[in-house]
Amino acid sequence: MSEPRLPSWAVVSDERRAHIERVANLVRAWSAELAPTQEELNRWLRATYFHDALKDAASARLRELAQIDWEPEDLLHGPAAASIAESEGESDAQVLDAVRYHSAGYAGWDDVGKVLYMADYLEPGRNFDSNGRESLIRLVAEDFERALFEVARGRVSWVRSRNWPLLPETSEFWNALLESR
Ligand SMILES: [Fe+2]
Ligand SMILES: [Fe+2]
Repeated sequence: MSEPRLPSWAVVSDERRAHIERVANLVRAWSAELAPTQEELNRWLRATYFHDALKDAASARLRELAQIDWEPEDLLHGPAAASIAESEGESDAQVLDAVRYHSAGYAGWDDVGKVLYMADYLEPGRNFDSNGRESLIRLVAEDFERALFEVARGRVSWVRSRNWPLLPETSEFWNALLESR
């Protein structure tokens, strides 16, 4: 099986493409320590290459594909990408859920959703709290579930700091993480 890459239907700026490659490189770096099978690593990478593939697409197209009424509109690129990926042959429901909910969080994820959610936030091109994020990058291999909790805490705090409502999926995800501690 050839290594996953950005799909032909992607609509991305050069900057976005570079972000997606940094997320993929972080996922590959973790795989050296987490030692997934090649098949599992390919799932992680398929989700990675799909996740922002429509981030720069026109909003009318995103709304049409996403079939979900999330606000703000910026959140629709995940559901829209999952919708095209499925119609183009992706049949792994967990890969699709990883893509669909990558901005929101999702209580029903397996490792593919969790890995993407963490890598998307921790990739080294983002320019906030670089020390804290560097230690979280290391924590993923040492204590995967604790790293996930810390990333979710950072992401939920950020949404709340802007006085944005939490999506129901995000609240469920966060509550499930709290309950599993
Ligand atoms: Fe995204
Ligand atoms: Fe992303």
